[in-house]
Amino acid sequence: MIPLFERAGRRPLVVALGGSLHGSSSTQKALQLLLDQAADAGCDTCLITGQALDLPFYTYGADKRTGAARYLVEQLRRADGLYIGSPVYHGSISGVVKNALDYAEDLRDDERAYFSGRAVGSLTTGGGWQGCVGTLGALRDVVHALRGWNTPFGVPIHTGGEPVFDAEGRCLSESIQRQLTLLGQQVLDSLGIAAKATSS
Ligand SMILES: Cc1cc2nc3c(=O)[nH]c(=O)nc-3n(C[C@H](O)[C@H](O)[C@H](O)COP(=O)(O)O)c2cc1C
Repeated sequence: MIPLFERAGRRPLVVALGGSLHGSSSTQKALQLLLDQAADAGCDTCLITGQALDLPFYTYGADKRTGAARYLVEQLRRADGLYIGSPVYHGSISGVVKNALDYAEDLRDDERAYFSGRAVGSLTTGGGWQGCVGTLGALRDVVHALRGWNTPFGVPIHTGGEPVFDAEGRCLSESIQRQLTLLGQQVLDSLGIAAKATSS
């Protein structure tokens, strides 16, 4: 089947959603690296993070949505591939990220309902492995419930030890960078796009 972006004569759009409301989110940095890779491969990209996630609690059937909520839903609707990243909060997905994902309910009546037909790569950041790995599973369950195609690979990032990212967002860990590249590649593969080799 010809992908939607090809039928529409546009570049594929890859959307990354997640992170924290504060300014130096490690989850946001990981998502940005994935989007950089997608941009290098010729995709349009959109990062929904930070204050863009400061949304009212999702209310099913509400007639009005804020501008930020409408933007989020529209980007998810248009996305051809997705990355989702959550910090671990008390053993699971943070409330901010889960609330943003709940807005995918507004895609239920779309031709591509929820995340149907889209590959979704997930990552988590947490102070301990137990939370990182458990939350990655929880995130992949949400993607599954939203009918997205989980990539085979997911990336749990332990942020409780050595610094993983520098202030500019560069990844300081060769191993984590390799895993992010693989995750990114798997979403690009679903779009029929080859990733360029990274310099790190
Ligand atoms: C409220 C709160 C709860 C947290 N709970 C956990 C936890 O249960 N397990 C864990 O491994 N890390 C936990 N952490 C640590 C964060 O997951 C970790 O610092 C993460 O990298 C933060 O992501 P960010 O930089 O994108 O905000 C918690 C941090 C906060 C602020």
